[in-house]
Amino acid sequence: TDDLKAELLSLALEAAHKAGALLRDGRPEDLGVAATKTSPIDVVTEMDLASEKLITDFLGDHRPEDGFLGEEGASSPGSSGVRWVIDPIDGTVNYLYGRPDWAVSIAAEYAGERVVGVVAAPVRGETCHAVLGEGAWRGERRLRCRPSPPLDQALIGTGFGYVAGRRAAQAEVARALLPRVRDIRRCGSAAIDLCDVAAGRLDGYYERGLHPWDMAAGDLIAREAGARTGGRGAAAPDGELTLAASPGVFDALHPLLEELGAWHD
Ligand code: IPD
Repeated sequence: TDDLKAELLSLALEAAHKAGALLRDGRPEDLGVAATKTSPIDVVTEMDLASEKLITDFLGDHRPEDGFLGEEGASSPGSSGVRWVIDPIDGTVNYLYGRPDWAVSIAAEYAGERVVGVVAAPVRGETCHAVLGEGAWRGERRLRCRPSPPLDQALIGTGFGYVAGRRAAQAEVARALLPRVRDIRRCGSAAIDLCDVAAGRLDGYYERGLHPWDMAAGDLIAREAGARTGGRGAAAPDGELTLAASPGVFDALHPLLEELGAWHD
């Protein structure tokens, strides 16, 4: 499977760069909301749709037997054992507002296991990737998560879903956590948050209710950089908590999040 992983990585990198260039260079000045999904603030732009189409067309041309799961509707089982999990813009609200933290996230699963992850953040000018068992990189630079500080000195990222009831509960958890850690960041892209854990730019990141496409690539990148991920979120079916952190921070944060009720709506 080494050849397969190498092929999947090179296709994922090329697809992410093509989509990233389209999104960065082709963002309309008057970009508006094309549709809403789970709530009025859960938005889709025409560029989310264009990016997903570019990625699925490109990968489908090269590997017509593969399956797809995409945020904007791509869904097919395929027959090759490979499935692509795609977020055509992770951080759509940042993209809509012209803020820099958005990314194209592409993961490949083989026989149900994530084997390749690519997160391209074109405005940051950074692409991270990981291959199962082989490590995580940003360009040529090998990524390693930060040595774990005590929790009260840890910089923790989080995010808030779009569903109103869940947001209120997430705000309560963040309110209770804030005095127990160095500080909290909310960048607006789960994929970038997970890469930031991998790169030592955050000590940990948690969010409840991520979708598989938000975190499939970033989870592998964080793990391959030495972070621990999981906590009822490892394979993160909808609604589960995703937690990724350097190992000591994970061990301290996991029970605290449990105590603060972060697992529940
Ligand atoms: C969102 C981002 C955000 C997270 C939300 C996600 P999208 O993804 O990752 O950081 O807090 O839960 O839905 O909708 O921009 O692809």
